[in-house]
Amino acid sequence: MDIRIKDIVKKYDGKTVLNVENLCLSKGKIYGIIGPNGSGKSTLLKIIAGLEESTKGKILYNNQMLSKVIMKKMTYVSQNPYLFRTTVFKNIAYPLKIRGIDKEFTYKSVKKIMEEFEIDNLQNQLATSLSGGESQKVVLARALIFNPQLLLLDEPTANIDPNTIELIERTIVKINREKNITIFIVTHNVGQARRICDEVIFLKNGTVIEQGKTEDVILKPKNSETKKFLSLEYHMS
Ligand SMILES: Nc1ncnc2c1ncn2[C@@H]1O[C@H](COP(=O)(O)OP(=O)(O)OP(=O)(O)O)[C@@H](O)[C@H]1O
Ligand SMILES: [Mg+2]
Repeated sequence: MDIRIKDIVKKYDGKTVLNVENLCLSKGKIYGIIGPNGSGKSTLLKIIAGLEESTKGKILYNNQMLSKVIMKKMTYVSQNPYLFRTTVFKNIAYPLKIRGIDKEFTYKSVKKIMEEFEIDNLQNQLATSLSGGESQKVVLARALIFNPQLLLLDEPTANIDPNTIELIERTIVKINREKNITIFIVTHNVGQARRICDEVIFLKNGTVIEQGKTEDVILKPKNSETKKFLSLEYHMS
């Protein structure tokens, strides 16, 4: 899915937290969005997902305004994802169930994605009893099961061990390449942006300070704010 953001402004109680003039996301690419706490990353993601309304501006999805049909083609995974109090299998199968997909196809699809995320051993476990990393994998499997055209991920690997991060990154890239999904991922992990993103957007105080090819933004940032942010992130990681 192609996304075009035009003059999006978001205000809370009169205070502007987001002001993005022009941003285009092309089909099949992985975009990383980096920036300090409170810079508006999650707000931008929620507005694209249709979960928050912008105060001003518009977003076009494949040249169309947001609709129920488009909402069904995208998926958003929040910073604090929520799992239903039932088995892992049923959690992952849920998006197919509400779309009326038959049981046999659902079973095969859930099995396949559980294998991909190496969580097939957890299928009968209560999802609310999983560890943080296991939960994150289940949430991602559930987000990907219905082949969305747009995937919006808010810090999908925060608090996760390096092996699991590697698995999640590999799976995200694999699915992106196989299915040509557009992916927009918020991350505090600059290394992760470098590993998996085609392009990176640096947001500060709600505005886009710099954007471009990952290698350019991360290795040769033009803006002094970006340079400062990246050098701090490197020192701390
Ligand atoms: N519902 C709300 N009411 C008032 N202010 C809000 C609301 N939601 C977000 N904000 C403010 O908007 C700003 C941007 O928040 P946002 O969650 O988008 O930041 P972020 O870049 O995702 O930060 P983090 O890296 O900490 O997740 C913050 O200053 C936040 O306090
Ligand atoms: Mg956030």
